[in-house]
This record gives sequence, structure tokens and C-alpha cells, in this order.
Amino acid sequence: MKKIAVLASGNGSNLQAILDAVESGAITGAAVTLVISDKLDAFALKRAAASNVPTKCFLPAEYSTREEYDGALVTYLQAMQIDLVVLAGFMRLLTPYFVAAYPRQIMNIHPSLLPAFPGAHGVADALAYGVKVTGCTIHFVDEGMDTGPIILQEALTINDHDTMESLQQRIHELEHRLYPQAIDLCVRGKIKLEGRRCLINDN
Ligand code: GAR
Repeated sequence: MKKIAVLASGNGSNLQAILDAVESGAITGAAVTLVISDKLDAFALKRAAASNVPTKCFLPAEYSTREEYDGALVTYLQAMQIDLVVLAGFMRLLTPYFVAAYPRQIMNIHPSLLPAFPGAHGVADALAYGVKVTGCTIHFVDEGMDTGPIILQEALTINDHDTMESLQQRIHELEHRLYPQAIDLCVRGKIKLEGRRCLINDN
């Protein structure tokens, strides 16, 4: 049984989708054994507690550098014997030290079709730019900002009547379906990396 830690800064709707997928058996061979946040009031922490998953907060203000912060995080993840780190709305860039500690075992979800609109405002940036198609991306994390190898990606059309809220909601629906799928493929060892390409072999 692989141990997953989910890192979340906010609402945690993706965390909820992952917890539900473990519960329903849509994710096999793994369980969420830890939820970490950088914010004391993250609703994700309440969702974890409701599912009896242990939580811990690492507050940036208590560390003087990003390196120190990530060092403490990695030490804790390793002590908890975490196999896979899943970022679900965790709004911090990981240091190279963190990335090297979990090679190809850190996943992230992003609300746009990367490499378009990386960063903290993927939905708003796509809407403001006026693109007609956007979507969501699940990728392995590397040292860059939303630049790692893409595992799964799905598109949706932006309609003229879309608002930030309607688009965000439709992207969330996509995310909640795609993230559990990507995690399940990863824990079952179905993703093969060839250069930047993630080849999925799910026979
Ligand atoms: C998600 O839409 C995720 O794609 C985004 O934060 C949201 C978290 O929602 N992540 C990023 O923008 C990362 N750059 P949630 O807390 O309800 O899961």
C-alpha cells in the first residue's frame, strides 16, 4: 500500500476528490495518510480531519528561507514514510532539494493547458487573454514553475458567456475526474517517462 501525502493551501476540493476516489476504489493500492498545509485556516485541513487523515501545518513565517522550510517538510514526509507527494492547490514553488528528494514522485495539478498560463492565476489569465480553449494539466513537478513532464491533460471550450466563476467551476469538474485517474496510473506504475514524454501503458 503506497502512502500519499496531499499538500494543499486552500479549499481542498481536489483533495476531496482524491479521498473519495480512494474510498470508492477508483485509486487502488494507495491511501492518503497525511495532509499538509501552509495555511492554518485551509479548508483542506477540515476535509482531511473529516476523513480521519492526520494533518500538519508548516507555516512559512516560522522559517527564514524556502530551503529551510522545504528541508523541514521533506524530513517530516520521510519520517511519515510517504511514497508520493500530491500538490493540490499548494501555492508554493518547491525548492530543488524537495524535488530531488522525491524524484518523479511529486505531482501537481494546474488549471490551464500548460505550457500556457502557468503560475497562480491560470483560469483568470486564460479568460483575460481571450483564448477559446483552456483546460487542466496534471504533471510531475520539476524545479520550474509548472514546467514538469505532463501526465494527463484535457481541454474545454471557453464560451462567450463564461465568467471567472463558471469557467473555474467547469475546470474544477475536469480536475476532480482527471487527478484521481493520474494518481491511480502513477501508483500502479503505468507511467513511463521518455525524455519529457509520459507514456501511459494501462493494458
Ligand atoms: C485548483 O484549481 C488547482 O488547479 C489550482 O488551485 C486550485 C485548488 O483548488 N492550482 C494552481 O493554480 C497551481 N498553480 P482546490 O483547493 O479546491 O483543490
